[in-house]
Amino acid sequence: MDLAARIESSIEAALLAAAQTDCPPRLADALHYAVFPGGARIRPRLTLAVALACGDDDPAASDAAATAIEILHCASLIHDDLPCFDDADMRRGKPSVHRAFGESLAVLAGDALIVLGFDLIAASPMRHPERMAPLIRVVGRAVGAQGGITAGQAWECESAVDLAAYHLAKTGSLFAAATVAGAAAAGAEHELWRPLGETIGEAFQVADDIADHVGSTAVIGKPTGRDKALGRPSAVLELGLDAAVSRLKSLVGRATALVPPCRGEAHLRALILTETQRFVPAGLVAAAA
Ligand code: IPE
Ligand code: IPE
Ligand code: MG
Ligand code: MG
Repeated sequence: MDLAARIESSIEAALLAAAQTDCPPRLADALHYAVFPGGARIRPRLTLAVALACGDDDPAASDAAATAIEILHCASLIHDDLPCFDDADMRRGKPSVHRAFGESLAVLAGDALIVLGFDLIAASPMRHPERMAPLIRVVGRAVGAQGGITAGQAWECESAVDLAAYHLAKTGSLFAAATVAGAAAAGAEHELWRPLGETIGEAFQVADDIADHVGSTAVIGKPTGRDKALGRPSAVLELGLDAAVSRLKSLVGRATALVPPCRGEAHLRALILTETQRFVPAGLVAAAA
């Protein structure tokens, strides 16, 4: 099974279980709507790629980690789009969850997916159950109030924020969880994998800031020009477009050098290079150059 198919089947199983028996039907529909069809699924692909590079000797553990990370990401997007955050009408080329189901169900769907992310790690039939607690801690740190997504979103409520710290918390933290959890699921020395994930995540957010500035809704499937309209810290608004593009290139260059020694090192490095070069959609590269 290729990585994408492995991820989809694991996410489908998790959602099916979550929507059974006592879940009210409209909430079940909102959960499904928020997760399918997915976006690029870049974080869970990174988790599995790292797990495989480290031997992937416990596929149930790496599947659970990858699925939890993607489900938490989907939850963060539901909440990020709400009127009290970015007030975005579209996500992945269709109405955002609150536009389709109303704000109450959007808040609840985000909550339910956050809980599901941790529950599915706890329920995973791992071959090495001693890896479960580290996985839960790695994923929890990525989404929490101390440097995780919650912190990243909360920096928007402060009067001053350092751009790199904001990017690291709102985006880098979950990418770091993707690499660290992939290694932890395979029993490797996992904290060595944090700088790689953080750097890929920072590059990803710089690319998102560039797309927000020069992209169109038709290409990226979500509203553009939001950073300026909402006064958000943005690499483009703070550094200028040319410097933001240079920063993206330098972060991408740095990322490949940060792959720790492992069995599949050369293959993983090549994969990261290909993936990161696609961060800014093709049509936008010329516009941003
Ligand atoms: C969007 O993430 C939010 C950011 C951190 C920039 P993605 O671009 O990974 O979203 P999907 O899952 O592919 O739609
Ligand atoms: C999203 O940041 C990061 C999250 C924690 C959800 P943005 O608000 O910049 O991402 P998009 O552009 O809406 O996807
Ligand atoms: Mg936002
Ligand atoms: Mg947003």
